[in-house]
Amino acid sequence: MLDSTSPALILAPMEGVTDAPMRALQGATGAFTFAVSEFFRISHSVPGKSVLLRHVPELTNGARTSTGLPVQVQLLGGHAGRLAEAAVVAYEAGATAIDMNFGCPANTVNRHDGGASLLKHPARIREIVRAIRDALPSHVPVSAKLRLGWDCVDSIHENAAMAAEGGASWLTIHARTRTQGYAPPVYWPLIGQVRERLEIPIVANGDIWNMEGFQRCREETGCRHFMLGRGALATPGFANLVATELGIAACQPQTEMIADWPTQLRRLTELTPEFRELSPTQSVMRLKQWLRLAATHGTFAHFDAIKRSRSADELLATLRNFTRGPFNKRPMTV
Ligand SMILES: Cc1cc2nc3c(=O)[nH]c(=O)nc-3n(C[C@H](O)[C@H](O)[C@H](O)COP(=O)(O)O)c2cc1C
Repeated sequence: MLDSTSPALILAPMEGVTDAPMRALQGATGAFTFAVSEFFRISHSVPGKSVLLRHVPELTNGARTSTGLPVQVQLLGGHAGRLAEAAVVAYEAGATAIDMNFGCPANTVNRHDGGASLLKHPARIREIVRAIRDALPSHVPVSAKLRLGWDCVDSIHENAAMAAEGGASWLTIHARTRTQGYAPPVYWPLIGQVRERLEIPIVANGDIWNMEGFQRCREETGCRHFMLGRGALATPGFANLVATELGIAACQPQTEMIADWPTQLRRLTELTPEFRELSPTQSVMRLKQWLRLAATHGTFAHFDAIKRSRSADELLATLRNFTRGPFNKRPMTV
């Protein structure tokens, strides 16, 4: 799935955002090497296969989206034994790779011994990764996604070393602490320091919004592997520019981006099997969620015009009025 010799661009797991339809849509761009599922939380019991298949429906399709993008299953929790059991259930359900979440900053998760709270216990990170590693056949990669630390950026050195000792095939590092939440700054050079010390591939993540940021992240980390989350969604086409720069073979070379929101949104509705069963309020919320991200962090300038839309059809019709003009054809600079 990820090797040290080829560059890779990974679609970030984002609970409630990069769900299966969104993963399929992003998979159609050809920019990504693989996606990571939203976290699957293991608390007091190990769920059965059917629960997991509802969470990661791609497992019924060879762990790929309908558009061909491989999807890795992400687990979250603090009990090594149950996580290992869940990893086996995932493998038997069709998972081809498992990622372990050591970064989620949500209070409800952290209070129950999950996500970033494990960053305070480096030895437990090793124990969890090792338990999952030992439970799976050796050809199934196990990776870990970490923040820099709970409240101290330097914790990444010990935590990353522990995950590697536990047998992680690669690590993704979101260059912030848990106490930072999503506040700036990101500390990309620390990712570079970990990359120099460890022998496994390191994936750089956090606040890559445009090409200038990508180039700076690449220089400061020395990485060949990157994960994009909000930046990829906020600016459609940005991931293709990054993939072109990385020389990712499946990607059509691209040098400029054309914003075509009506097409993007319509495709998302088509890729969502239950979309027509949602109430108008629920379905329009899904589209507004994406456009809000694009308005806040990308170049989408028409949020005021669509924010009162009461159905997906109304939103798309409003948007089409705007995009009949030059907006649709305007190349975007990132
Ligand atoms: C709404 C939202 C949900 C997220 N859910 C997850 C998750 O399920 N698992 C995980 O490891 N990270 C999760 N993250 C963190 C992202 O994967 C990523 O590390 C973070 O957004 C920084 O990358 P970016 O600046 O490219 O978005 C989430 C982030 C956001 C904004």
